[in-house]
Amino acid sequence: MSTAAAIPPADRAARSTLRAVRADDGPDLHALVADGGGLDVNSPYAYVLAARFFGATSVIAEGTDGPEGFVLGLAPPTHPDTLFVWQVGVAPAARGRGLGLSMLRWLVAEVAPTHLEATVTPTNTASQRLFGALARDLSAPLNVTRWADRDDLGGAEPEDLHRIGPIPTS
Ligand SMILES: CC(C)(COP(=O)(O)OP(=O)(O)OC[C@H]1O[C@@H](n2cnc3c(N)ncnc32)[C@H](O)[C@@H]1OP(=O)(O)O)[C@@H](O)C(=O)NCCC(=O)NCCS
Repeated sequence: MSTAAAIPPADRAARSTLRAVRADDGPDLHALVADGGGLDVNSPYAYVLAARFFGATSVIAEGTDGPEGFVLGLAPPTHPDTLFVWQVGVAPAARGRGLGLSMLRWLVAEVAPTHLEATVTPTNTASQRLFGALARDLSAPLNVTRWADRDDLGGAEPEDLHRIGPIPTS
């Protein structure tokens, strides 16, 4: 039996150290997205900008071999009490052990938003399950509505808005 299989998921997620994104994390964030697959790879500039401006609403997970996951979030100017998750990613080797959920829980505890929003494509089962698990964990309702159609996205898959909240204060 491999070591990873022998360790309960929650304990394995706990092996990562979670911290707010710092201004100099842009290159690591870009590398996580470029190497991980499943996410739109934006320019290196976009991740430098996000690390500098959205660090307080974002989290990065450090494993023993370096960064292994992140959530880039922001407070939308139109409804700043909400935490909008722009991108969430976990390195392939670290997936399925609770790290995605741990990072989102950590961020919600830090930011204390009234709601959390994220857009997800209809075929991204892992991501749908992730936000479903977060809503259950927070004991908050989850609503899913169409956010952008193919025509809005240059022919790419549509995006559905997953809106969680109101999030009970603890
Ligand atoms: C989506 C992603 C961030 C999930 O991270 P993760 O650390 O593997 O997720 P967790 O281990 O915390 O699991 C959270 C929930 O998702 C479920 N899940 C995770 N991966 C799954 C998969 N491949 N298929 C189905 N369900 C999955 C888990 O079972 C769990 O749900 P449950 O509590 O109901 O059992 C990760 O798969 C990833 O980086 N994917 C590529 C990038 C991406 O698609 N990002 C999201 C775009 S919106």
